[in-house]
Amino acid sequence: MPIIRTAALLIICSLAFSQNLMAKEIVIKFSHVTTEKTPKGKAANYLKELVEQRLKGKVRVEVFPNSQLYNDKEVLKALLLGDVQMAAPSLSKFGKFTKKWGIFDLPFLFKDASAVKCFTSGPNGQTLLAAAENKGIKGLAYWLNGMKQLSANKPLLVPDDAAGEKFRIMSSDVLEAQFKAVKANPQKMSFSEVYNALSTGVIDGQENTWSNIRTKKFYEVQTDFTESNHGVLEYVLVTSTEFWDSLPADIQKELSAIIKEVTAKETQWALEAAAEDKEYIIASGRTKVHPLTDAQTAQWAEVMKPVWKKFEANVGKDNIEAALKCDK
Ligand code: SIN
Repeated sequence: MPIIRTAALLIICSLAFSQNLMAKEIVIKFSHVTTEKTPKGKAANYLKELVEQRLKGKVRVEVFPNSQLYNDKEVLKALLLGDVQMAAPSLSKFGKFTKKWGIFDLPFLFKDASAVKCFTSGPNGQTLLAAAENKGIKGLAYWLNGMKQLSANKPLLVPDDAAGEKFRIMSSDVLEAQFKAVKANPQKMSFSEVYNALSTGVIDGQENTWSNIRTKKFYEVQTDFTESNHGVLEYVLVTSTEFWDSLPADIQKELSAIIKEVTAKETQWALEAAAEDKEYIIASGRTKVHPLTDAQTAQWAEVMKPVWKKFEANVGKDNIEAALKCDK
């Protein structure tokens, strides 16, 4: 009798254990570096909201904005170690994992956000999404921020104006070459350090989107902005291949559907932010915004475009050609 009772108890315990395992909630920690008011910040929160609605009890998303958990350098390491499960860094920050994503940094390759969308949704863009998979990083979607603008404590109207100025750049060799082409001094630096570096004069200038310039208050510590639209800031929503492959097929399917929906909203928020944040900065009266004439834009493009050739083998000639087709 005691043997039967012990056996029954063991069966009950093992059933309870396996049920508990089946019911275990999957936690996705999503770390990013911008504020919650940016397109990326809103999209991360929206992803959390949709997961709460549609995968309740199965998956939970925890969002850590504003470099609260990790800065740019650390987050990809953390992703591979399994300490976070999602991030959406700028494509400029993946040089250690793939050189191909350097295409997004080529100056004057994309004329506007529609050209970027045309490229990312086309066959070349979609193939590129998998470029870091052999390093354990899975691209889930492209997220837009917008076109980048230049700033300094002097008007930058022609390339010579930038000569000798120290510019903060993201950790990208292409961006380094872009600033060297105008004889400036590029300095790789984390996003979280830029405001202080600008306000203390460690650097003279920077390049970023209207959204980041507003939400990080760069316009308060730079006297002049140039509406140069010389490059794009595009993100890639990433997870680790190990984490993704560990998910049950039904969860992968639902998460993919959610990501598609969030991506559409994110694009809309990015387009709205680009227009609204520029107007906000002008209206603040804290800085001057200089549009460029066509002739001035042509000068910047002429000096910066040789960078394409330098990185052509890394980013793929076919990708450059596909991007150019989108500019028409
Ligand atoms: C971001 O928008 O995620 C930051 C971009 C930057 O480092 O400038």
